[in-house]
Amino acid sequence: MAKFKNINKRIGILTAGGDCPGINAAIRSVGKTAISDYGMEILGISSGFLGLIEKDFSILDENHLSGILTLGGTILGTSREKPYKKNETANGKSEKPKLIKKHYHEMNLDGLVCIGGNGTMRTAALLAEEGLNIIGLPKTIDNDVWGTDVTFGFDSAVWIATDAIDRLHTTANSHKRIMVIELMGHHAGWLALYSGIAGGGDVILIPEIDYKEEVVAKYLLKRAMNKKSYSIVVVAEGINKPKGISAAHHVSQFIQKYTGLETRETILGYIQRGGSPSPMDRILATRYGAHAVELMASGNFGQMVASINGKITSVPLKDVGNKLNIVPQDHPLIKKSRKMGISFGDK
Ligand code: F6P
Repeated sequence: MAKFKNINKRIGILTAGGDCPGINAAIRSVGKTAISDYGMEILGISSGFLGLIEKDFSILDENHLSGILTLGGTILGTSREKPYKKNETANGKSEKPKLIKKHYHEMNLDGLVCIGGNGTMRTAALLAEEGLNIIGLPKTIDNDVWGTDVTFGFDSAVWIATDAIDRLHTTANSHKRIMVIELMGHHAGWLALYSGIAGGGDVILIPEIDYKEEVVAKYLLKRAMNKKSYSIVVVAEGINKPKGISAAHHVSQFIQKYTGLETRETILGYIQRGGSPSPMDRILATRYGAHAVELMASGNFGQMVASINGKITSVPLKDVGNKLNIVPQDHPLIKKSRKMGISFGDK
């Protein structure tokens, strides 16, 4: 056993927001690094910030951390609890942050690792401002957390979505149909862009590029006129569409209306959030978790771990929370895709 640096700290870990593959790999990395290298004690907090409000936690030891690297989801559970959200109390101010601070100290925590997406980083930044020792780890299949090039969960979701698109090619070809597939991503188009290219999509619609229905229709008709027996249309859930219907349904409806071509729609949904993490997500989550412990051990709090140009580093949490990482219109992948004749529905 390596002589650990006996830092004698107790750190809490919580996982909040939408789950994704890789969270357990991150928990494992934080825990193993903290225990074996620094002799720290780890508390696993249940259901995100709700667990802090309800003081629902348990000690995580090496046994809890083994066998979870390949496990999807989160062994701690998660919630979308937003402690700072104005709510029912008389003065509109939420009492929950006060409870969180009280329980943080009662649990004798020296630090808290918050694993989550945008909303989690916003809450983490506010708690850090109130004096808690916080480190954020960016995770989400959407890859829309500002400040880092990539979040873990994204690569796994690209694999899942690409496999789904591959499967749509065979059925679209058999029936000579237009296949529309809707992918997650919230307000960002990263998942649709990457999976659309990897899956050989002909049309890729993302929230960052305003599409025109007639442009999409004309493009698909032209493909049909050029003897292309089928087309694949990849759509991000966050594109502009009428309220109350899915992006996939809206797009497949107008395609059929304008072109008369037989069209079917698939919404991949929560499949993109499930299952075992890809090897790259396991590695990224492991790197992020280890760095979080380094930051903790050196007392460098109020940071979010990040990957910038392939280097694992960190950025101030206060800079992250209220921004989104969305696809720039001049992204190299968009430029190259246009040159290959892929349509983004805008021209
Ligand atoms: O943030 C991840 C995500 O899967 C988004 O892509 C999606 O829009 C959202 O979560 C769904 O939220 P919920 O899990 O609360 O239904």
